[in-house]
Amino acid sequence: MTTTPTTDGVLVDRYGRVAQDLRVSLTDKCNLRCTYCMPAEGLPWLAGPQLLTDEEVVRLVRVAVRRLGVTEVRFTGGEPLIRPGLPGIVAAVAALEPRPRISLTTNGIGLARLAPALRAAGLDRVNVSLDTLDQARFSRLTRRDRLADVLAGLAGATTAGLTPVKVNSVLMRGVNDDEAPALLRFALDQGYQLRFIEQMPLDAQHGWDRATMVTADEILAALAGEFELTADPTERGAAPAETWLVDGGPARVGVIASVTRPFCGACDRTRLTADGQLRSCLFATDESDLRGALRAGADDDELARRWRTAMWGKRAGHGIDDPAFLQPARPMSAIGG
Ligand SMILES: C[S@@+](CC[C@H](N)C(=O)[O-])C[C@H]1O[C@@H](n2cnc3c(N)ncnc32)[C@H](O)[C@@H]1O
Ligand code: SF4
Repeated sequence: MTTTPTTDGVLVDRYGRVAQDLRVSLTDKCNLRCTYCMPAEGLPWLAGPQLLTDEEVVRLVRVAVRRLGVTEVRFTGGEPLIRPGLPGIVAAVAALEPRPRISLTTNGIGLARLAPALRAAGLDRVNVSLDTLDQARFSRLTRRDRLADVLAGLAGATTAGLTPVKVNSVLMRGVNDDEAPALLRFALDQGYQLRFIEQMPLDAQHGWDRATMVTADEILAALAGEFELTADPTERGAAPAETWLVDGGPARVGVIASVTRPFCGACDRTRLTADGQLRSCLFATDESDLRGALRAGADDDELARRWRTAMWGKRAGHGIDDPAFLQPARPMSAIGG
């Protein structure tokens, strides 16, 4: 094994993992206030000049794609649909050679209106977050009465061809943990691919509790009451979701068990925050300041070198179960989920 980062080529770390999947946060702001993500009053948002401009975002993605072997670009946030320049950013990234696959993680609000333009710009597919199908519950959970907008966004994504449409659901005890089968039935009926995400210690309020989080085993047990789940024979690769065939397939359901069944050993992700900080992991406690370097005049070679060095230092795992675990200072909404 080599003991220093490579000076050219892909984003390899000291454990031999190669990062090809870039998550780019386009804003830390959001039009919902999911209780497991941020407080009712919101957060101290990044100031305008701190944010990467559209051109800066595209420049960094270009370095990642052309010099560092990134093949997958996912835009996220905060809520990426509230970034005015989104269609232009997508179009510029879709014009890169080699063209990366481009996807978006969104709460779906405004997607019904924006989906055709995003598709035309080159967006390949979307992940839409939806934790409950009950309107009153949705309003409590997100602190906004916007379930109808999310459902319209999902339908609009399908119509626009942003497929396969994936739905992400986080279950919380005593809030929506009785809804796993209903969410799966809904996804099967609509042709969406559902993935449950275990709740992680990334909330701004530091309210996460290992003892009460809903685990993958519990989710699977709840689904098994109504569906026949069998192991999915397809290769999982670096995908965070472990998948099961539902009632013999071809429909599938996934569980992203970041806490109870961590998949750090196969992780292929690298992350850029809306203020241009590079993170090797959701749970990293250090960042590399690409915005500072870029604004100080660094050329693409220098940016690529910094990116490789930062990824070389990626830790083996998130360490949530380590007694010395420290939740990162940035909440999920400011990292990009
Ligand atoms: C931070 S959001 C950003 C994109 C967009 N606003 C959305 O909700 O899809 C990305 C994903 O992270 C999930 N998420 C947020 N906080 C989380 C937490 N503490 N644990 C697990 N997932 C979380 C959300 O449910 C969502 O699916
Ligand atoms: S999970 Fe997404 S939609 Fe909900 S508050 Fe966080 S960033 Fe907004």
